[in-house]
Amino acid sequence: MSRILITGGSSYLGQHLVQLASASCHTIHYSYHQNNPSLPVQGHWLDIRDETAVRDLIFSLQPEIIIHLAGSNRGSEMASVIRQGTGNIMWAAREVDARLIHLSTDSIFRGDAAPYAETAVPTPVNAYGRAKADAEAIVQQHPNSAIIRTSLIYSLQEMDHGTRWMAAALAKGEPVTLFSNQVRNPIWMDSLCQAILELTEHPYTGILNIAGKQALTRADFALKLLDFWQVHPRHSLTIAPSSGSWPLNCELRLDRVTAVLQTPLPGVDQVLQQFSNKN
Ligand SMILES: NC(=O)c1ccc[n+]([C@@H]2O[C@H](COP(=O)([O-])OP(=O)(O)OC[C@H]3O[C@@H](n4cnc5c(N)ncnc54)[C@H](OP(=O)(O)O)[C@@H]3O)[C@@H](O)[C@H]2O)c1
Repeated sequence: MSRILITGGSSYLGQHLVQLASASCHTIHYSYHQNNPSLPVQGHWLDIRDETAVRDLIFSLQPEIIIHLAGSNRGSEMASVIRQGTGNIMWAAREVDARLIHLSTDSIFRGDAAPYAETAVPTPVNAYGRAKADAEAIVQQHPNSAIIRTSLIYSLQEMDHGTRWMAAALAKGEPVTLFSNQVRNPIWMDSLCQAILELTEHPYTGILNIAGKQALTRADFALKLLDFWQVHPRHSLTIAPSSGSWPLNCELRLDRVTAVLQTPLPGVDQVLQQFSNKN
């Protein structure tokens, strides 16, 4: 049984992870910033850019493990939340000797050299990718840390951010383009949360790719989820290659995670098939 602090407990991933972790025998605390999701364990307001507030919270809780999720690709302050916030969390984690598990992304790659192993050096093409690549370098200053590089996260209980945005735009007849030249390994929320919790009990340090086994284009993935959520208005939908600063083929190699962790990492088709078999 460990004391675990989850930063960004109010995030899409965090809310699921806090609930799963609370059902285990760990003692869980989470932080939130603008949205308190009122989860079944204690939440703490925290701006991770505030060094003193971060130290105060971490010193008072004395967590053995910190799972750092806060700071995503959303919000105008995104880059400073990711860089400054990760720095504050990393230094405080080191001071209290807590293991740090950090969530990174396949968007740190340009996408012209897939599939990417854990040894691949980041080649970011946009502000989010640059900030997350810097955050990885910051976390690596903590000897007892693990960096999870993951891909698009989706759940079959709650729409992911991307599908929610598409469904709202399509309902209003606004144009939506699905990219046919961007490849990802989307990961099912349940497998990702289980893999993160497995990693809390594992001595692994360094970078670890944790993603779904099926690589597919963002267009194919989006269509599968629109079908699943029965989003029908599609007249303003187009499928085309992206232009501009987007990571292209970011497929991640999964041989290491398959050897290190037991948690299965099914691909999208397998997850949807399992769901339809059950219902
Ligand atoms: N979603 C994906 O497909 C995906 C893919 C790859 C990697 N990831 C990584 O997974 C993690 C979670 O992603 P997500 O999409 O689930 O996140 P999200 O739903 O966009 O939530 C972002 C989180 O950051 C918190 N936050 C923002 N500014 C903050 C600040 N100044 N201080 C403290 N907390 C702050 C938010 O708190 P409030 O809401 O309370 O303000 C929220 O908990 C991120 O590290 C992301 O990079 C996500």
